[in-house]
Amino acid sequence: MSSRPQPPTGPVLPGSRDTQRARTIARLASLDELEVEVEKLIAGGDGLARFEGIPIFIPRSAPGDRLRIRIVDRRPDYGRAEIVEILEPGKGRREPPCPFFGRCGGCDLQHLEDDLQVELKAAAELETLRRLGALGDDLPVRVVAGQPWAYRMRTQLHTASREGAIEVGYHSRRSSELVSVDRCPVLVPELEGLLADLPGQLTEDGPRRLDLLVGDDSALSSAPVVPGLPHGEVRLQVGDLEYQLDARCFFQAHRQLLPNLVNIVVGEWSGQEAFDLYAGVGLFSLPLARNYRRVTAVEGDRVAARFARRNARDHRFKELEVVSRAVEGWIEELPVNADRVIVDPPRSGLSRHVRGVLGTKAPTRLTYVSCHAGTLARDLRALGELYLVEELVLLDLFPQTGHMEVVAQLVRRAATRVPRAGS
Ligand SMILES: C[S@@+](CC[C@H](N)C(=O)[O-])C[C@H]1O[C@@H](n2cnc3c(N)ncnc32)[C@H](O)[C@@H]1O
Repeated sequence: MSSRPQPPTGPVLPGSRDTQRARTIARLASLDELEVEVEKLIAGGDGLARFEGIPIFIPRSAPGDRLRIRIVDRRPDYGRAEIVEILEPGKGRREPPCPFFGRCGGCDLQHLEDDLQVELKAAAELETLRRLGALGDDLPVRVVAGQPWAYRMRTQLHTASREGAIEVGYHSRRSSELVSVDRCPVLVPELEGLLADLPGQLTEDGPRRLDLLVGDDSALSSAPVVPGLPHGEVRLQVGDLEYQLDARCFFQAHRQLLPNLVNIVVGEWSGQEAFDLYAGVGLFSLPLARNYRRVTAVEGDRVAARFARRNARDHRFKELEVVSRAVEGWIEELPVNADRVIVDPPRSGLSRHVRGVLGTKAPTRLTYVSCHAGTLARDLRALGELYLVEELVLLDLFPQTGHMEVVAQLVRRAATRVPRAGS
């Protein structure tokens, strides 16, 4: 172990817990390498170990691993480390199947058996939701596993020109350095098969970012426009509904789990009026339009909103209106006491303003779809006085990565006093 200069630790009271902690932090600062045992995974997929109580987060580790680690980031309350040597592997560790694992930033968990990934990720997400979201232990929870490989029908590639040659791949973890890849086993075969030939189809003045989407019948859509690559729209059948979209639009990437996701989110509830906020091309708005007399879909991206309108028209859902606006600007138009609201925001979750308006307009049933446990927990806590969480469903839409999709079904508490319509 090598020594480093000790950081200033600030004023501390002799003999207090602060003193003990300051000593531990100073000792951690003096160590470059140490041995630890990994306790568990945390939300996002890193392993957690402790040095005299101080949490240390270690990517690509497994519960039960005994590791020699190198501290790469020191903070007042925690550290980050990388693995130097696996002294004893934890249960369920395996040789990662993809040769790019470890360098490529796309996957975090290939070193764990597929079933174990789902179990550990679900436990980590639930711990975050219970701790930060103030959810009870008795809350019903379902976990839905996905096809572990060859599941992604959408991907975002990066390109670079090195010594006159074009390279295509993904950014490395926590940096924008390009890891060039000629295969990627989480992609559906139609997409993976393109990787080896793509560099030959791109030129030096081509795009630095390339979105690819495969629709039904293996049709391809790419964005931005690259000569030789198709960029038009594709069709995707989910359940008995068909959606049109192109590679510029958001769409969930796990082909096999799409029908499950839609059924879990939309459910069997029905009523007069429903609102689908952050609606994309209408994945949930279309099935909602069968259960509710009127549906309003709000989507900030103009291209996605245009496709949502077209999808509504193609299915003759005349009472489905698509509003092309940011939810933050539109939310005051939400009527008081609506039957149903679905929110599916980006990772940052709901803004304080949107949370506030949902709190006062008090829709009877609120469905929250989230890809980030931390922001979902924050928002559930803020809405907790008004809403009861009936059920959580965790879907593994992102196998081999540290992420999961969570659907929280909320219902307004019976004792809540709701403002009258128009107030
Ligand atoms: C996680 S995606 C969900 C899309 C859709 N629900 C689906 O599952 O296909 C979030 C969507 O919200 C849109 N979006 C992001 N920020 C927004 C905002 N502030 N207001 C409205 N839409 C927004 C994005 O363009 C994207 O289509």
